[in-house]
Amino acid sequence: MQFEYTKWVGKKRFHFEKIDSTNKKAKELGEAGAEHGVLITADMQTAGSGRRGRSWFSEDSGNLYMSLLLRPKLSPIQAPILTLTAALAIAEGLNHIFRQNGLQFTTQIKWPNDILLNGRKICGILTEMILNQTQIDFVIIGIGINVANRTFPEDIKQMAASIFMETGLELEKEQIMAQIWPLFEMYYANFLKIGDFGLLKEKYESLLINKNRAVQVLDPKGVYTGTAKGITNIGELLVDTGTKIEKVSGGEVSVRGIYGYV
Ligand code: BTN
Repeated sequence: MQFEYTKWVGKKRFHFEKIDSTNKKAKELGEAGAEHGVLITADMQTAGSGRRGRSWFSEDSGNLYMSLLLRPKLSPIQAPILTLTAALAIAEGLNHIFRQNGLQFTTQIKWPNDILLNGRKICGILTEMILNQTQIDFVIIGIGINVANRTFPEDIKQMAASIFMETGLELEKEQIMAQIWPLFEMYYANFLKIGDFGLLKEKYESLLINKNRAVQVLDPKGVYTGTAKGITNIGELLVDTGTKIEKVSGGEVSVRGIYGYV
């Protein structure tokens, strides 16, 4: 199954009914020399992985589990922008679908890359970068979208949701990909054109749920609070602590609302 609506994403696609993790598979293929744009999709994962060593709920075959392999000519410090680029394409792609269905729902982004609907997480992105000494060899962007499930395990029930649970829409996974990937290609080109997130910043900030909200920054060097103001051209979150503006970059840092998840 290859896409007709993209220029380069998924022109080579490997689909699995069941696999441990599409990110893991993409890494194996990348190490074996697979080219830029290869897409791995699966109906289910037995060991879906999330950020910070967490697992990703992957039992519902109506949900999307996919990983894109990129070989960008970027320096490792630019790589986090790829995740923001993907988050923007997914959030906007889903919003287009809601409009096409006459629905007013709007997804928002919790910095850097969780996609929320009605304040609950419907999509997570796990980006992994594989270096060749100091250069990027390849990057895997792993995306999980809760499309169809009706229920979640107890421990994530409060925070997680699916598109179906929030909107009642029964979407086809292929339909979602057809919206998201062309947008990703467009934003990726915008990013590469100037080498930073400057052309996309405003769009991203318009969907940023944290903007002007109180946040708690869980930095391994110390926890602090402030008000999120927006992002920089390289995708850092600007947090006004009252005494200074901190620039928060992804990695080890986690950002929460002061009363909970957002
Ligand atoms: C997060 O923790 O928010 C990121 C979750 C990313 C999950 C996706 S599902 C497809 C791909 N394969 C994986 O094992 N993880 C990512």
